[in-house]
Amino acid sequence: MRDAVVVRPARPEDVPAIAGLSAAFAAEDLLVARTPDQLRDLLREFLAATSAGRLVGCVGLSQREHEVLLYNFCVVPDLHGLGIGGLLLDHAAAVASVLGCRSLVAASKHTGGWFLRHGFTEIGPRHGLSDPAALLVPGRGSRLYRRPAPGRRPGHHHSVFTTIAQGAPKQ
Ligand SMILES: CC(C)(COP(=O)(O)OP(=O)(O)OC[C@H]1O[C@@H](n2cnc3c(N)ncnc32)[C@H](O)[C@@H]1OP(=O)(O)O)[C@@H](O)C(=O)NCCC(=O)NCCS
Repeated sequence: MRDAVVVRPARPEDVPAIAGLSAAFAAEDLLVARTPDQLRDLLREFLAATSAGRLVGCVGLSQREHEVLLYNFCVVPDLHGLGIGGLLLDHAAAVASVLGCRSLVAASKHTGGWFLRHGFTEIGPRHGLSDPAALLVPGRGSRLYRRPAPGRRPGHHHSVFTTIAQGAPKQ
């Protein structure tokens, strides 16, 4: 039987693994390159997926007014296609819901197909977002995808949500 995958807030000791995993995808132009120091500064926005103590995926969540932007979203290559990305997405949606945000947004250059298969629709840069320009790295050529966040469930709390919600630094 496979080890269970757990999603939790990222911790300082995850930074080297997040940096290593992310750098491999940045080298393929799939993610925006971020240094370990940049990732450490953003760590409070990150969810980590782990299995048997190994970091197997991560995603950054940045609240932008009414949207939660997913960034630096990746899963270890040998575990692609097993649902870990979907699990991270489920947690991201729950966080967005607790924050009272109406949608999840992703900016992607090469992975739009994955978002389309997971309930996102492509949106134009002026399509009702609070600040679309802030979501796109100038000149990168990414497209924007959006998915509604589930309705807020009053009184539903979880440590993941409170960690993310407490004044996470902006990107
Ligand atoms: C995108 C990513 C995080 C998804 O993680 P994952 O754990 O493989 O995703 P899941 O297992 O939950 O989903 C797999 C499903 O998506 C599909 N899929 C995977 N990549 C896809 C793509 N680029 N386009 C369309 N569908 C894709 C698979 O065929 C599979 O479909 P199925 O469930 O019907 O068989 C992972 O592929 C990854 O790390 N990619 C490299 C980094 C990246 O591109 N990140 C996004 C930057 S915006």
